[in-house]
Amino acid sequence: MRIIKLDAIDSTNTYLKKLSVAGHAEDGLALVAKLQTQGRGQMGTIWEAQEAKNLTFSVFKDVSFLEVSQHFYISMAVSLAVFEALNSLGLKDVKVKWPNDILSDNKKIAGILIENVIKMNVISGSVIGIGLNVNQTDFSALPSASSLLLLSGQVHNLDEVLDVILKQIEIHFNYLKQEAFSFLKASYESQLFRKDKPSTFTNAEGSLFSGYIVGISNHGQLLIKVEDEIIKRFDFKEVALLY
Ligand code: BTN
Repeated sequence: MRIIKLDAIDSTNTYLKKLSVAGHAEDGLALVAKLQTQGRGQMGTIWEAQEAKNLTFSVFKDVSFLEVSQHFYISMAVSLAVFEALNSLGLKDVKVKWPNDILSDNKKIAGILIENVIKMNVISGSVIGIGLNVNQTDFSALPSASSLLLLSGQVHNLDEVLDVILKQIEIHFNYLKQEAFSFLKASYESQLFRKDKPSTFTNAEGSLFSGYIVGISNHGQLLIKVEDEIIKRFDFKEVALLY
């Protein structure tokens, strides 16, 4: 597995996407930066991370064996890879908040931005961006965020943590290749944050409603049991879990 280390870049995802379009990204290529000047999060948000204290990296994976309708399995595989890596580093109470935030002790510790390269209706490659808070301790602007250091009390070596995550990504993409879809879905659902707990959500119109997360559909929609035992499906932009 090739790892390119950069001191600074706008965004590892943006750069790796350019490399893949130019045909310069092979399966497993990882790009890691000490500093991102324009780190991107989901839904057009900004990903901020203090220089050289955290992991900000992207990995290119060949996913041409998947159909476009199976794209959410990429998200499941990556979430589970980060989940397993953090567990193996001794972090407690690690959960996956749908679709792919990683929490520990109810605080966000890692975010994932997956950008697929689609050619002729097949996903030819996937650029998987991961931001993991490792040794940063000041989150005054982000009260719901935390880091490995804050949660474990230990300073971690960035290269070692990267190595653990990259190995887990390989393991979980092998499950994908072997079409272990039911296994991946069941594992993902069993780690879902607030599953089967009474929760409050907002819908796309901003109205509050209560319900229970019961799982996800095969296409990655969140399944919420609302009043009268009715189960409704929600796409990413249609719902937000409040508490
Ligand atoms: C989120 O939680 O909104 C997703 C955050 C993803 C951040 C990572 S950092 C490395 C890669 N490059 C980016 O610009 N974003 C992702």
